[in-house]
Amino acid sequence: MGKDKLKRFAEVETFNNVIQPDIKNLDSNHETKGFWHIKFGNSNPIILELGCGKGEYTVGLAKKFPNINFIGIDIKGSRIWRGAKTCIEENIQNVFFLRSKVDFINHFFDKNEVSEIWLTFSDPQPKKPRKRLTSPLFIDRYKKILKKEGVIHLKTDSDLLYEYTLDEISSKNYEIINHCNDVHGFIKNNLSQKTQDILSIKTFYESIWINDGKKIKYVCFSGIHNV
Ligand SMILES: C[S@@+](CC[C@H](N)C(=O)[O-])C[C@H]1O[C@@H](n2cnc3c(N)ncnc32)[C@H](O)[C@@H]1O
Repeated sequence: MGKDKLKRFAEVETFNNVIQPDIKNLDSNHETKGFWHIKFGNSNPIILELGCGKGEYTVGLAKKFPNINFIGIDIKGSRIWRGAKTCIEENIQNVFFLRSKVDFINHFFDKNEVSEIWLTFSDPQPKKPRKRLTSPLFIDRYKKILKKEGVIHLKTDSDLLYEYTLDEISSKNYEIINHCNDVHGFIKNNLSQKTQDILSIKTFYESIWINDGKKIKYVCFSGIHNV
């Protein structure tokens, strides 16, 4: 492992905006479950970014919406380090980062504790559909924590993941709130100014895919409790 990575691992241990549970012993609920409002010191809505990487959405949205709480979740500590460090440097108080697999999300959040979920450039898992973050397996997990009116946002470069998610939405009769198959293109499917502003936040991977000439797709949907 590189020196920089080791330094980040050590530093992230000292950050009070990062929670790194002992995943090996995580066979029951984590102490945060149902108590995030106490950690944040307020009862503002909570929005998650799953597979947040360096946390560009978590940080970008937190700056735009100081009265909403954001939690970026990723398994990679060295990536989380970047977002957490930015929040410390810029005194952004409405953010936590959680180092965990998304698979364990129900250990960390209680029923109705989450208002929205962002999936940013998630791995399309071409050979393992069950592992896609919009598969029925994961949607069932989100159902246990997301408010009834809660929404899920997917931003992706992957045609496979985009089409798969649209098919899931259609077959389960979820409700599409917004969608766009070329977020940075000219035609934006009547996306509101507010949505365009939010979609202008670019993640690390997003910038790479844009440079590669890939179109960035977005869909926002609700109604996962209806099934
Ligand atoms: C392609 S990267 C995207 C990162 C970031 N959202 C971006 O757009 O730059 C996918 C991220 O998801 C994380 N990841 C993949 N599967 C995960 C899982 N099951 N639980 C937690 N994190 C996961 C990886 O560690 C990686 O940081």
